Amino acid sequence: MNEYRMSRKQEKSVSENEEIASIGPNRSFAMEEAHKRLRTNVFFSFAGENSSRVIGITSTVAHEGKSTTSINLAYDIMKAGKKVLLIDADMRLSNMARTLSLRFSPGLSNILVGDNNGEGLVQKVALLENLSVICCGDIPPNPTELLSSQRIGVLLETLKKSYDYIIVDLPPVSDVSDALILSKLTDGMIVVVRQGHAEKKLLHDTVRQLKNNGARIIGFVMNGTRETGRYYYNKYRRKKYAYGAYIYRQYGDKK
Ligand SMILES: Nc1ncnc2c1ncn2[C@@H]1O[C@H](COP(=O)(O)OP(=O)(O)OP(=O)(O)O)[C@@H](O)[C@H]1O
Ligand SMILES: [Mg+2]
Repeated sequence: MNEYRMSRKQEKSVSENEEIASIGPNRSFAMEEAHKRLRTNVFFSFAGENSSRVIGITSTVAHEGKSTTSINLAYDIMKAGKKVLLIDADMRLSNMARTLSLRFSPGLSNILVGDNNGEGLVQKVALLENLSVICCGDIPPNPTELLSSQRIGVLLETLKKSYDYIIVDLPPVSDVSDALILSKLTDGMIVVVRQGHAEKKLLHDTVRQLKNNGARIIGFVMNGTRETGRYYYNKYRRKKYAYGAYIYRQYGDKK
C-alpha cells in the first residue's frame, strides 16, 4: 500500500489550477463537447431502464483521469436535469475534496464504520452549481475490508431512492482490489484509458478482471487524445490545448 501511495504522489506533477481548469464550466470547448458525447452515450447505455443507476469509474493505473471524468460526467448529467450524486470511493489517496474545495470528512468511510449517521455527509459544490458529493472521509487503515462490507450495498440502495444517477470514483484496478469489489454493486462501469499511460497488456487484464467479477463495462473513455484536441484547437481555439478531448466508445459487452 505504501508503494501505491508513493507512486501516485510522485506522479502528481500538475498544479491545482490545472485541475480546476478541466472541470465543469471551466473546461475547454473541446473537452465540454467530448463530455457531452460521453453523457449521451451513458444515457443510451441505460435506455429503457427506469430505475436509478450506479456508475463506477475506474482505470488500469493511476492518474489516467478517473476523477476528472467522474466529476464532469456527474456535472453534465445534473445539467441534463437529473438528480445526481458523486461519491469519492478512492480511499487510498483521494484528492476530490481538495479539487472541489469540500470538507474531507465526514464522508464515505465514516458512514461505513458507523461513526456518522448521515449528517453533513452530502456536500454541495458551489463551483459546480451545487452538485451533490460524498467525499471519501477519513482514510481508514483497511479500505478494502470496509468496501467489502455489506454496509456499502445497503448505503447505495438507500441513496438510489433519492438520486437518478450515482457516479462512483474508484481507484485503479491494477493497484488494489477496491474497484473490482465495488464493480459488483454498480449497474455499469466506465474504464478511463489515458493515451500513453497503461500498457496494453495491463488494460486487457483490467477488462478481464472486471468481467470475471461480473461487472458490466458500458464503455471506455479515451483521455488525452491529441488528434481530437488539435481539430478543435484549429477550428475554435487560439490557445494551446493541454490535453486532447475525451472520446467515448461503446464496448458492447453487456452482462
Ligand atoms: N482531458 C484532460 N484535460 C486536461 N487535464 C486533464 C485531463 N484529464 C486529466 N487531467 C488532469 O490530469 C490530472 C490527473 O487527472 P485525475 O485526477 O482525474 O486522474 P485520476 O485517474 O483520478 O488520478 P488518481 O489515480 O491519482 O486518482 C489532474 O490534474 C487533471 O486535472
Ligand atoms: Mg482520482
